[in-house]
Amino acid sequence: MQRKQEKNNRPIGIFDSGFGGLTVMSAISKLLPKENLIYFGDSAHVPYGSKSKKAVTNFTVNISKFLESKDVKLIVVACNTASAFSLDTLKKVIKVPIIGVIEAGSVTAARNTSNKRVGVIGTEGTIKSNAYAAEIKKHDNKINCFSKACPLFVPLVEEGWNKGKITEEIINVYLKDLVNKKIDTLILGCTHYPLLKNSIQKIIGKKIKIIDSATAVAMAVKDLLENKNLLRNKGAGKYCFYVSDDPEKFKTLGSKFFNNKIDKVVKVEL
Ligand code: DGL
Repeated sequence: MQRKQEKNNRPIGIFDSGFGGLTVMSAISKLLPKENLIYFGDSAHVPYGSKSKKAVTNFTVNISKFLESKDVKLIVVACNTASAFSLDTLKKVIKVPIIGVIEAGSVTAARNTSNKRVGVIGTEGTIKSNAYAAEIKKHDNKINCFSKACPLFVPLVEEGWNKGKITEEIINVYLKDLVNKKIDTLILGCTHYPLLKNSIQKIIGKKIKIIDSATAVAMAVKDLLENKNLLRNKGAGKYCFYVSDDPEKFKTLGSKFFNNKIDKVVKVEL
């Protein structure tokens, strides 16, 4: 166990099944540039989106315990599938506060919709869990949610196919039913989808507002740290990256998601 660091200097732990959560880390680093951040990408077990609740929960409990051993002051579950499946369990077994991505995105969508018709897209696991619809109903039970799993989006993004004819055709096939339901708001309920945002907007049209949970989560992190008097107020934050497999691949692909170069990645076995 590391020596206890000064309360506010302790890092924020962020994790995902792989690279996708780096879109959330990027939003947090922009909003809170003084915070030290530790990222864990579970590249040995990615994708979570097609796995069972039990398997994903086991992985996420181990990762959260690893982050706690690094003396983090807060854990961000920067993965929609993991937030949908495991957040309640993690809140019971982990001592530090935990934030998932579903609540923040749902609140933003509930505030944005005028016609009370919201679309949600995500992995099979996230959509089957119904977690977004349940969370949105907590804020306004008159909102109608229409969901669609888009399993081809993650591999498209990982191959760097963020735009172009084939990608747009796939987006159209997945999203035309939601557009026909006259939604005015669409939640990108998966960490990879922000990289498809421009192509999605082109296909669904400008009238539908796209909600990207990364920004909403960064705001929720700021509010929580402020309320607990845990914001770090000096110097520039330092970043550490851990993975459970293939650090070299993480460096190359991760830099795209983080929008910044990633130089050092450490492999750990949990
Ligand atoms: N990070 C996952 C999510 O946001 C997408 C990738 C995966 O299936 O593991 O749901």
